[in-house]
Amino acid sequence: MSWLRFFLKQQFKTLPSVDSFRVDLSGKTVIVVGSNVGLGLEAARHFASMMGREEEGGKLILACRNVQKGEAALESIKTSTGFSGIEVWEVDLADFSSIKAFATRFEKDGGGHLDLLVMNSGLTTIEFVETKDKWESQLQVNFLGTAHLSLRMLPFLSKASRTGPCPRLVIVASDMHFNAHLSTKVLNSKNILEALNDKDLSRRTMHTRYSVTKLFDIMLVRALVARLPSSSPVEVDAANPGLCESSLLRNFDSGIFGVITGIFKFLFARPTEEGGRSIAYAAIAGHSSEGGHEKSFHGEFISTCEVTPVSTFAVSKEGKIVEDRIWTELIDILSRIDESIPNIVSVYLQ
Ligand SMILES: NC(=O)c1ccc[n+]([C@@H]2O[C@H](COP(=O)([O-])OP(=O)(O)OC[C@H]3O[C@@H](n4cnc5c(N)ncnc54)[C@H](OP(=O)(O)O)[C@@H]3O)[C@@H](O)[C@H]2O)c1
Repeated sequence: MSWLRFFLKQQFKTLPSVDSFRVDLSGKTVIVVGSNVGLGLEAARHFASMMGREEEGGKLILACRNVQKGEAALESIKTSTGFSGIEVWEVDLADFSSIKAFATRFEKDGGGHLDLLVMNSGLTTIEFVETKDKWESQLQVNFLGTAHLSLRMLPFLSKASRTGPCPRLVIVASDMHFNAHLSTKVLNSKNILEALNDKDLSRRTMHTRYSVTKLFDIMLVRALVARLPSSSPVEVDAANPGLCESSLLRNFDSGIFGVITGIFKFLFARPTEEGGRSIAYAAIAGHSSEGGHEKSFHGEFISTCEVTPVSTFAVSKEGKIVEDRIWTELIDILSRIDESIPNIVSVYLQ
């Protein structure tokens, strides 16, 4: 299906109400990464409304790169839901050392296990901006950092007891992965991620970079699912909220791009709450306490609250080759900057 047809269908669909998939998250530990604003904030608000009372021991961690903004989000969620077991923890996905510090803190203060992890942080820009770790910013935040934190939290997810929808890892992807294009130069290069990190090679393709990183998020889910042993309790899926009101397009707020994105949002964007609802659905729906539907979202693309096929490329023979190549490259990169990665891969994946 072309992206446009897919997009129009998804934007006009009525989403299920939150009450139709609400679960009891009392006593659970839930992390939403990138939850100070936008869809992450609204997804976190939905989770908080299901976490009972603070005395039941549940903890909602708002993982944000700006603690002050995170504290404002915490107050907003506390006021609207009455749940007060919320903490703000700092993490910057554009900084591998910040991710390591977050995981180390969780090991000490997290309570041993993690029930839900929603990797929601993301950005889009057509500028080639280099992070302090010397990676193109979208490649690092949307993919490398997302994968790094997911892997670092895998041991804690693996320790959670299997109850209802938990433990689950949700990677927030996008229908924009349908538009991903990898040039022949990139595909013929020795290393795909390094080629994409080459400023000269990327000069004419930055307009597709966001889509490429979202394709890699889909491939990350598929690669993890292929490697998680069947005995692992961890369920992994990809969420697509569809086009929603948020600050995602903050880098396109002026000039011709500003006009185009403004019109598009005016015509098609869902309210921010609905985006958060789609993410919450991917995190807690698709299970049955009576059994029979266990892990039914494992490896799936949950687009606007529905299990949906991914792009033809993602499931093609060529796509699988790219998936395997970027997995190998990813583990190689992460193992160089984080000595705990090889051990996590050998103990928790096969
Ligand atoms: N909105 C849509 O139409 C749409 C459609 C499909 C998919 N998505 C996906 O949904 C997710 C949420 O996006 P949104 O629409 O809610 O956008 P948003 O309002 O811009 O929120 C993005 C979140 O990511 C955080 N973030 C950005 N860079 C980060 C970094 N280096 N480290 C940690 N956190 C970082 C932001 O923090 P700051 O506020 O500090 O920058 C913010 O909390 C993204 O993955 C996006 O790709 C969105």
